[in-house]
Amino acid sequence: MSNCQSSETNLPKHVAIIMDGNGRWAKSRGKTRVAGHKVGVESVRATVTRARELGIEALTLFAFSSENWQRPEQEVSVLMDLFMFVLTREVKRLHKHGIRFQLIGDISGFSAKLQEKIKQAEQLTSANQGMVLSVAANYGGRWDITHACQNIAQKVANGELSADQITEQLINQETSTAILPELDLLIRTGGDYRISNFLLWQAAYAEFYFTETLWPDFNEDAFEAAVSSFGQRERRFGQTGEQVQQKN
Ligand code: IPE
Ligand code: IPE
Ligand code: MG
Repeated sequence: MSNCQSSETNLPKHVAIIMDGNGRWAKSRGKTRVAGHKVGVESVRATVTRARELGIEALTLFAFSSENWQRPEQEVSVLMDLFMFVLTREVKRLHKHGIRFQLIGDISGFSAKLQEKIKQAEQLTSANQGMVLSVAANYGGRWDITHACQNIAQKVANGELSADQITEQLINQETSTAILPELDLLIRTGGDYRISNFLLWQAAYAEFYFTETLWPDFNEDAFEAAVSSFGQRERRFGQTGEQVQQKN
């Protein structure tokens, strides 16, 4: 068999992005940090569009971390308003394209109005068969794992489950990404090389792609470049390169 795999074989099923660099983008233009977040919305649009066109099954975007509450109150408040505004404006378009929307994170941290909007968007799109767009907001990888543990402990306490029935698969089913395929590619924009408490459990065998590009400058082509870099990687999952090549 040829070594040359079709590009379809090498397409990641699940791509996640740490959308970083809005503040620095704005600052370098003499604008307020908030201006960077607003322009960043266009990068979200572009990325969702290209991901859908490429046939990516799941796109997960880190929009607001559990730790981002520590930012200045005014910035947090603008981010919440922006989230509300964008959700209202874009949900019909997502639905039209068959995209299923879900929020991952601790939704109880948001205002009642925003929680309602999120639930409406999830309900409206719940039967869609296209790409799953997960927005991670008030999300932390440690929160995700802790929350999964709590659910499992509750089942053990109820007598539904015994301790030796706890497997990796079961834990996975209790995480917020349970319905999604395994994470293949994790992109971080903005030039920092860290995970910032994003998908800790899920990133076990993900390929990492770091780019200096600040999020507001990220676009369709930048996304495609990341996806095509993924296509060049050899994923060994613990095996040797020779073993992997034999399989192809
Ligand atoms: C990412 O951009 C957006 C959020 C965390 C909400 P930043 O706001 O972190 O931008 P920098 O890192 O300060 O440039
Ligand atoms: C990570 O970016 C969170 C999001 C992109 C939403 P941060 O800007 O908050 O990350 P740190 O604090 O620099 O690690
Ligand atoms: Mg940042």
